[in-house]
Amino acid sequence: MKYKVNFYVNEEPVELYVDGNKTMLNILRDELCLTGTKEGCGAGECGACTIIADGKPLNACLVLAPELDGMHITTIEGITKDGELSELQKQFVELSALQCGFCTPGFIMSGTALLQENPNPSREEIKTAIAGNLCRCTGYVRIIEAIEEAAKVLRGGER
Ligand code: FES
Ligand code: FES
Repeated sequence: MKYKVNFYVNEEPVELYVDGNKTMLNILRDELCLTGTKEGCGAGECGACTIIADGKPLNACLVLAPELDGMHITTIEGITKDGELSELQKQFVELSALQCGFCTPGFIMSGTALLQENPNPSREEIKTAIAGNLCRCTGYVRIIEAIEEAAKVLRGGER
């Protein structure tokens, strides 16, 4: 059975008829060609599919698309403005907080959601915010430092 869904994806209105068993991850990648959101485990364990839905981080592999009807969805593609990386993306590059990069969109979306809600997070709050994201190759120290550094810059440029 098909369901009509309307949501905003990266501020663009989207109307689709979707199968009721399609996850938001399926829709983003297969229907909307937004392949920056990654599929790792497909079961809510790795965080590679993290998006922001109405301001909250969410594993796109765990929600059916109709469940997000009416919501504002942001993906990794939506945080780059006019071709310019977000501050958090810049810090991931500057601090070498990635190697293979597969987990990176998920970490950046979890970090982005955190910084939107809490511009001055403690190290513990950062760890909590990325607790659902797994990285197999970079390790977590640089990722945490990138989020800390982005927070500093966004608060007013002290570095
Ligand atoms: S792909 Fe969604 S949590 Fe791993
Ligand atoms: S950078 Fe490779 S899994 Fe995180």
